[in-house]
Amino acid sequence: MKKSILITGGAGFIGSHVVKLFVSKYPEYTIVNLDALTYAGNLENLKEIEGASNYFFEKVNIQDAAALDQVFSKHGITDVIHLAAESHVDRSISDPLAFVKTNVFGTVNLLNSAKKAWAGELGNHLFYHVSTDEVYGSLEDGGFFLESTPYDPQSPYSASKASSDHFVRAYANTYQMNTVISNCSNNYGPNHFPEKLIPLCIHNIKNNKPLPVYGKGENIRDWLFVIDHARAIDTVFHQGKSGETYNIGGFNEWKNIDIVRLLCQKMDEKLGREKGTSEKLITFVKDRAGHDHRYAIDATKIKEELGWEPSLQFEEGIEMTIDWYLNNQEWLDHVTSGAYQDYYTELYENR
Ligand code: NAD
Ligand code: DAU
Repeated sequence: MKKSILITGGAGFIGSHVVKLFVSKYPEYTIVNLDALTYAGNLENLKEIEGASNYFFEKVNIQDAAALDQVFSKHGITDVIHLAAESHVDRSISDPLAFVKTNVFGTVNLLNSAKKAWAGELGNHLFYHVSTDEVYGSLEDGGFFLESTPYDPQSPYSASKASSDHFVRAYANTYQMNTVISNCSNNYGPNHFPEKLIPLCIHNIKNNKPLPVYGKGENIRDWLFVIDHARAIDTVFHQGKSGETYNIGGFNEWKNIDIVRLLCQKMDEKLGREKGTSEKLITFVKDRAGHDHRYAIDATKIKEELGWEPSLQFEEGIEMTIDWYLNNQEWLDHVTSGAYQDYYTELYENR
């Protein structure tokens, strides 16, 4: 059967890299990018492949069940890679319901459309849910998240992603739908919306604006280059075993403050500023409510069973990321105009 793959959230940060990889690597597949184009979705992320003959775009909200059914039937969808989500923890703290509507209700809608479209032949199709390591909760200074770590989500964002993971597993168990889930650590790279730590700091350093570090900057995240995540998604989609979960990460833990200092150092070099100039912008601000201390993924299973591992060293990836932002000022201008300014003022002014 010729594959017609529905990739949801394909105009977002990670989704756009997945769409670009699949469209160019698999000309024999039809790739349908379904995205509501929220503040985080941007078709400029896809300009390299927008004219490809195997690529289609559908502006649809996953909360709209009827519109989803139409897309399944119009394109004869055979498989789903589901990335569409509200993805920012800080926004989930101020508006949890938006996360329930898209991440939980939207995912169940998508599962229902797939179940309906694939009725009688569920075994021939795959529903792949792209999820996060945040479902496992927060680690102290030792240990790693394994695929068997019990779920313990701590923020409204991670609670919504945990709930959507549970629904995917429930559909596998109840209806024998072929499903696979991957839980990935923090991504960074080109096209990352500047609400997240790394692109926000790159943008602010460039503009000589304060770098807001939550609390003491001691929280730890495990960073992976976005194109390595897209390669992992390709691997799991093609080789993952139905019903399984795969953790994705690069064994690359950093304290937030160390990442911010590294960005300052690299950008001083690139912008021809005197050493130490950008570090003066670091400003410690009120901590995120319920801030998870540490995430760290054990990615042994995907390496041993499917042969995937990261291709890039962190410093190399950070250099490429900074260069991308310095060379794509127009992209940054577009995404930081309008609503971004209001968001920024509300979250950071007088924090
Ligand atoms: P993002 O916020 O950059 O992009 C999300 C995309 O989903 C956008 O294009 C947006 O327009 C679309 N979208 C949002 N609500 C929608 C709706 N109701 N209907 C249709 N489309 C909608 O997110 P991202 O960082 O690219 O994350 C993609 C997925 O990967 C998410 O499911 C996220 O939970 C997961 N994830 C992200 C990371 C990370 O570090 N960014 C790590 C692990 C897992
Ligand atoms: O672990 C995977 C998750 O990583 C994904 O599921 C989420 O979609 C993604 O947003 C990301 O979540 P984080 O909350 O870890 O990412 P963020 O970039 O928002 O924050 C990284 C760390 O930096 C976190 O400890 C909070 C801190 N931070 C963040 C911002 C935006 C700051 O200190 N200052 C800031 O201004």
